[in-house]
Amino acid sequence: MYILGFNSTHDGSAALVKDGEVLCAVEEERFTRKKHHYGFPEHAIAACLDHAGIGWEDLDHASFYWNPRKGLFPFLFHVIRHFPRSLAYFDHQPGIWREFMALPKKLRNEYGFKGDFHFLDHHRNHIASAYWPSGFTEAAAMSVDGTGEWEATAMARVGPDGKIKILQSTSYPHSVGKLWETLTQYLGFRPNSGEGKVMGLAPYGRPDLVEKFRKVLSFDESGSFKLDLSYFDFHVGRERKYSDRFIAEFGPAREPESGMDARHEDIAFALQQVTEELLLAMVNALHRRTGLDHLVMAGGVSLNSVANGRLVRETPFKEIFVQPSAGDAGAALGSALRVWHEVLGKGQEGRWTMVNACLGPGYPEERLLSALEAAGVEYRRCEDAPKEAAALIAEGRIITWYQGRMEYGPRALGNRSILADPRNPETKDILNARVKHREGFRPFAPAVLAERANEFFECGDAEAPYMLKVFDVRPEKRDVIPSVTHVDGSARVQTVRREQNQRYYDVIHAFGELTGVPVILNTSFNVRGEPIVNTPEQAIACFLGTDIDALFLGDYLITK
Ligand SMILES: [Fe+2]
Repeated sequence: MYILGFNSTHDGSAALVKDGEVLCAVEEERFTRKKHHYGFPEHAIAACLDHAGIGWEDLDHASFYWNPRKGLFPFLFHVIRHFPRSLAYFDHQPGIWREFMALPKKLRNEYGFKGDFHFLDHHRNHIASAYWPSGFTEAAAMSVDGTGEWEATAMARVGPDGKIKILQSTSYPHSVGKLWETLTQYLGFRPNSGEGKVMGLAPYGRPDLVEKFRKVLSFDESGSFKLDLSYFDFHVGRERKYSDRFIAEFGPAREPESGMDARHEDIAFALQQVTEELLLAMVNALHRRTGLDHLVMAGGVSLNSVANGRLVRETPFKEIFVQPSAGDAGAALGSALRVWHEVLGKGQEGRWTMVNACLGPGYPEERLLSALEAAGVEYRRCEDAPKEAAALIAEGRIITWYQGRMEYGPRALGNRSILADPRNPETKDILNARVKHREGFRPFAPAVLAERANEFFECGDAEAPYMLKVFDVRPEKRDVIPSVTHVDGSARVQTVRREQNQRYYDVIHAFGELTGVPVILNTSFNVRGEPIVNTPEQAIACFLGTDIDALFLGDYLITK
């Protein structure tokens, strides 16, 4: 039984499930090379079908990450309530709605799809995308994003029968995700893309604006919250998401690419601080209501790794699983899993557990070789590629590590990665000058052997295989790994077990043997503004266009 899940808006993506098992999941941006690709994920679907060796006609079900029938009435009511300011909505919203409703027909007429089509509720898809892969039998669940059909937050409990029971929700326009999109735009970055930059900026700020910011976002102990809408314009469909009142109270917005001043840093600090407090209140409330030990999370706000680190440390949940593709790309995966487990009523039958995020396309050795030949570069085959990679990193080289199947979700986790020495304080500047060209305030992240993580980071026995939890670097280790220690002494850690990714583990292990430090710097294999590389041809082209020292393409090594 083949089930396709997909998303055709921002972060377009596709996922293919066979009898409960996830075969392939990938974002459209990796093919079109447009970051956060907006639109129908034609290539991503083709890659999923290719991976399974099937065609459109073999699909039994297709499910969409969103249910367009659901939010219509509250939306119309909202438009009337905010009339005439809300007229801006009519520039785009009806077109999007019509496009969604036409999807079943499009699949049948343009692609020859013959199965059943499902529109499934957005937040339940997010929750399912975390619950089923987590392996937990029973879990509290939280989905926090910009907005679903109408809800912007859902707190739930998922029982051993796999049924999702929503306990509490908050409706648009009261949305943490929209608040972040708005402030991301205000601070001169691209909304729905630059939110991580705002998070990276926050520790540079001072707490001066926190109290003032509590007027913008207020909440109580139950996890209910609201935005003061007078600070915003997003909810009336306007392109500029903040209002004149926001400017009057917090000052003018920052021009993109312009200098960053202390006020911007303080605003980022306040936003991060109040968001963390709200998420703590929500998760604590969820624990009180469910009494469970396990929490699963998804929705774009779950990519806030700093907040996630606090949830691990400061709430009673014993284990927290954050799905690596927590944004809307991941809702495609959740919708496909829901067809099997919920719509078809299979419950726990055929349940698949996520071991790593490497669910995207992989390319056979012949393809690597033909890409190398076509590029006309000199290369050789390594006897022990992880060991050679570790030796080069220990010598201070910057290498690219291209292996196996591509990661699903925004992080490169050791298959499409740039790796470097975290011990050298210059590494960050060298990386930025030679390849990443990114804002100087943004930190780089460490990957560490899971069994030795607690020696370097204050993480206890918590694991972070998807680089979605920030922990403090132990004070005595901050000078040991300066290039992955953020300005506030924290780090967005990736813990690696050998069974999760053998070759990547072996690189870090070998680096540890050579240097005594089983930690490497891991950043995604791409240049600024571009998605992570997918094919071997893209990998070679990206490598040749930058000042990276070596490229490992499977077992093949190219050096400059
Ligand atoms: Fe979402």
